Amino acid sequence: MKKKILVTGGTGYIGSHTVVELQNAGYDVVIVDNLSNSNTEVLDGIEKISGIRPVFAELDCNDKTGLKKLLEANPGIKGIIHFAASKAVGESVKIPLQYYRNNIVTLLNLLELMPEAGIEGIVFSSSCTVYGQPDILPVTEDAPVKLALSPYGNTKQINEEIIRDTIYAGAPFKSIILRYFNPIGAHPSAEIGELPNGVPQNLVPFLTQTAMGIRPELSVFGDDYDTPDGSCIRDYINVVDLAKAHVIAMDRMLNNQTEEKLEIFNLGTGRGVSVLELIGAFEKGTRVKVPYKIVGRREGDIEKVWANPEHANKVLGWTAKESVEDTLVTAWNWQLKLRERGIQ
Ligand code: NAD
Ligand code: WQD
Repeated sequence: MKKKILVTGGTGYIGSHTVVELQNAGYDVVIVDNLSNSNTEVLDGIEKISGIRPVFAELDCNDKTGLKKLLEANPGIKGIIHFAASKAVGESVKIPLQYYRNNIVTLLNLLELMPEAGIEGIVFSSSCTVYGQPDILPVTEDAPVKLALSPYGNTKQINEEIIRDTIYAGAPFKSIILRYFNPIGAHPSAEIGELPNGVPQNLVPFLTQTAMGIRPELSVFGDDYDTPDGSCIRDYINVVDLAKAHVIAMDRMLNNQTEEKLEIFNLGTGRGVSVLELIGAFEKGTRVKVPYKIVGRREGDIEKVWANPEHANKVLGWTAKESVEDTLVTAWNWQLKLRERGIQ
């Protein structure tokens, strides 16, 4: 009997790639998504890859009654992966209350509904944003959580605290918190990928749109940082590698592979890559030039952060496999597919 998993935000970037890996691992998947930052064409892409069209419910996770009805209509859900959230750092500064409501109330609803639905575990999408600018690099899970630099980052910190307090109060389920670094790339089939609304805020989609000629040039936000080439350093992780870690985490909870009720893992490659290095890797991997100019720093950017992934490597038996260069080729292939479809 296949185990059933609820994936909130499952037509989103990371959620869709995780749905594919869950299906590949033999799980049945129910997606709930309000389509505020994705569309149902993603379901076609998932089906083309896995051959299985997941159950889909268009629903806002702020709607607790709706969620309750969804769980009653889909009995046997044993785990939740909670991706659904608003995630634009800059936007969160402008509309903080919408971010606090969307990113916190949705989690509260799920945690409150889990016991009566007999759900045994929840994987939560957190972010290296909770570390701010770490004092020590590479950053480990026991590094201090620093004052959030944005309402978005604060919602992730608050969510982690809510989960911790709920588990310690004796909730009848487990949780694994995954702190992602910088997910990039697309499924190798180019059937699913990142589809940012409007002007991309993140580096890689802006870069691929520039390479495609959609944007005139890429602005590199500062080359006067205390880094070897002056540009900021991040830990860019392949989205499929990231997705696979979620399956391992779900297996770990549902197959009682741990006595721990709450675990936290960094999901990164352990390698820091600068903006200028990433541009070079893209051009090397695709043979496509990226016009760029150096401009001033972007407010709120931290200088450098990359993961110490040893805890996930050892305890989960998971390691990021794909190189940044190969991952950037998947991002480019996805951009080519979007042009083919006349989307961007
Ligand atoms: P995304 O915007 O592509 O996916 C989020 C999905 O959730 C979208 O499909 C959106 O329509 C849906 N959604 C939002 N609010 C909802 C609600 N109230 N009810 C139902 N559906 C809702 O974002 P993503 O990049 O796939 O990120 C997924 C998760 O990972 C988010 O929680 C994000 O904070 C976290 N995260 C992302 C990154 C990153 O760089 N992409 C890094 C760290 C953490
Ligand atoms: C990466 C680097 C920029 C765009 C953000 C969120 C984080 C998480 C991941 C949700 C930085 C530089 C970027 C551009 C540039 N999201 N850059 N020109 O800021 O590390 O993380 O996304 O959880 O919470 O903060 O990612 O892709 O925006 O930037 O030079 O046009 O690229 O300065 O150094 P970031 P990013």
